[in-house]
Amino acid sequence: MNIEDRKWEMMFDSYILSKRIKELGDKINQDYKGKNLLVISLLKGSFIFCADLVRAIDSYNLTVNFMTTSSYGRSTESSGNVVVKSDISIEDISNFDVLIVDDITDTAHTMDFVVKHIAKKNPKSIRTCVLLDKPSRREVDFTADYIGFEIEDKFVVGYGFDFEDRYRNVPYIFCVTDELR
Ligand code: PRP
Ligand code: MG
Repeated sequence: MNIEDRKWEMMFDSYILSKRIKELGDKINQDYKGKNLLVISLLKGSFIFCADLVRAIDSYNLTVNFMTTSSYGRSTESSGNVVVKSDISIEDISNFDVLIVDDITDTAHTMDFVVKHIAKKNPKSIRTCVLLDKPSRREVDFTADYIGFEIEDKFVVGYGFDFEDRYRNVPYIFCVTDELR
């Protein structure tokens, strides 16, 4: 199935994205002054957002690490079964204030799972940051500490978001407007 055969519309262009990410970076700068910040990027979805976000944070005292999770289910819908495909590569995170970064919170099963998983490693603190939030789809009670944009239940593609594992490289976010589910 090709995206070219679908109806789609622009949702967030690169200018809007960079402006909002700058605001998030400024806020994170203020909140983490003097702290030992460990940013954990959840792959694959957050790799582009996180790359821009960490460059909007001007602290040199920042460590980045990665974790790959996956939620089983149909391609356009997530399910409650979150699995760790690869864990962070730092053993001892007890000296870090952790910021978990993801591209989107939908049902919140992913964030709920990852926050509990990281909490077991006893960091100094844990906060969360997501670019997009779809509160209407929640199955678990969760609100990220830093949110880029709240959106309706639309199928988003580009800027890390995939359509059948493609189009993550598109530098803006668009949504597919014909019926996919
Ligand atoms: C997607 C998305 C979030 C998660 C959100 O990841 O990137 O991580 O689902 O859904 P939830 O709030 O309902 O858990 P996915 O597991 O599909 O893999 P990907 O990041 O590799 O695209
Ligand atoms: Mg993901």
